[in-house]
Amino acid sequence: MTPANSRVTVVGSGNWGSVAAKLIASNTLKLDSFHDEVRMWVFEETLPSGEKLSQVINRTNENVKYMPGIKLGKNVVADPDLENAVRDASMLVFVTPHQFMEGICKRLVGKIRRDAISLIKGMEVKREGPCMISSLISEQLGISCCVLMGANIANEIAVEKFSEATVGYRKDKETAEKWVQLFNTSYFMVSAVQDVEGVELCGTLKNVVAIAAGFVDGLEMGNNTKAAIMRIGLREMKTFSKLLFPSVKDSTFFESCGVADLITTCCNNAKLLHLLLLTSGGRNRRCAEAFARNGGKRSFDELEAEMLQGQKLQGVSTAKEVYEVLRHRGWLELFPLFSTVHEICIAVPPTAIVEYSEHTPKFSLVGGSAQFF
Ligand SMILES: NC(=O)c1ccc[n+]([C@@H]2O[C@H](COP(=O)([O-])OP(=O)(O)OC[C@H]3O[C@@H](n4cnc5c(N)ncnc54)[C@H](O)[C@@H]3O)[C@@H](O)[C@H]2O)c1
Repeated sequence: MTPANSRVTVVGSGNWGSVAAKLIASNTLKLDSFHDEVRMWVFEETLPSGEKLSQVINRTNENVKYMPGIKLGKNVVADPDLENAVRDASMLVFVTPHQFMEGICKRLVGKIRRDAISLIKGMEVKREGPCMISSLISEQLGISCCVLMGANIANEIAVEKFSEATVGYRKDKETAEKWVQLFNTSYFMVSAVQDVEGVELCGTLKNVVAIAAGFVDGLEMGNNTKAAIMRIGLREMKTFSKLLFPSVKDSTFFESCGVADLITTCCNNAKLLHLLLLTSGGRNRRCAEAFARNGGKRSFDELEAEMLQGQKLQGVSTAKEVYEVLRHRGWLELFPLFSTVHEICIAVPPTAIVEYSEHTPKFSLVGGSAQFF
């Protein structure tokens, strides 16, 4: 249970991190059980003007690099000192690109005592197997960790367009409800389900399908092909999740974190094109589209640097991590879409995305556990 007047710190201040801070800050002002101030840890950088990003955020109340034009709320305080930012917090929101989390956790060992939630889409692959980011946080810091995922393109939520999200929790429903309370607004509708792994794997794996969707767009294959890729992708997401964690529930795939996030991530919203450099949602799809248009001749690293301006691509590294799990467990041919996405990222031509033939299903998932037939 969290005490009255919980203090919240957001660890991360990118595109989604800034909007998460804005959502939370509007609620901490209204709700008596939270301290008004929301700390936001900023990975410090020097802007072209020579000023420090954290100082500009505190002066203008805007994250001028990752979410320009959006006031975060006067009760958001940017702090470039990680240890200081988390010192008094009883509720921690982790929202950085997943590749930085291991290093961040190492710096926080022994300094955190309370509840956490992860908004991070991605996983770490270790020798002993895949490790979800919420497990990394729980194991390294010795605290419980919920997750929040959903069809959440940060730029759209920043301008208060209606959307939904899903909180996944393990056992403690009361804490999950507190997280719902902290994020829920009239334009951001949050619900909770008891399925941490299901929610987190949905958010993580859909980025691999988004890369496939981008290839399809870059090859100008049309809507039927895109729909086929999304259907096959959703099926692989569900099978992979249930093979890794038999407790994952079918119903989770129908929450915002499941099919809704998959749709928004794979859609090509032409209206977003004028925001090309600023738009984050769909970044995996957009970079994959550019990759396919260039026939795979420009690397994802190059496209990420050029198109995302400091924002991070998640789908390519997740595809590699998923591939490592598949190879290690001998499941490669059971997941033709996931494996083809990684192979295209490293070597084969983008057209391979529609060249594989689906293998006859070799197993089904009944009652939550894998059964071969
Ligand atoms: N942007 C979205 O629309 C969106 C929506 C839902 C979930 N997410 C997830 O949220 C997470 C964070 O994404 P984002 O969009 O807020 O970030 P971002 O990609 O916009 O920004 C990158 C962030 O990483 C920071 N950074 C760079 N180098 C670093 C380092 N060495 N150590 C620590 N931090 C460093 C940068 O300062 C910046 O804050 C990701 O897991 C993403 O998948 C994003």
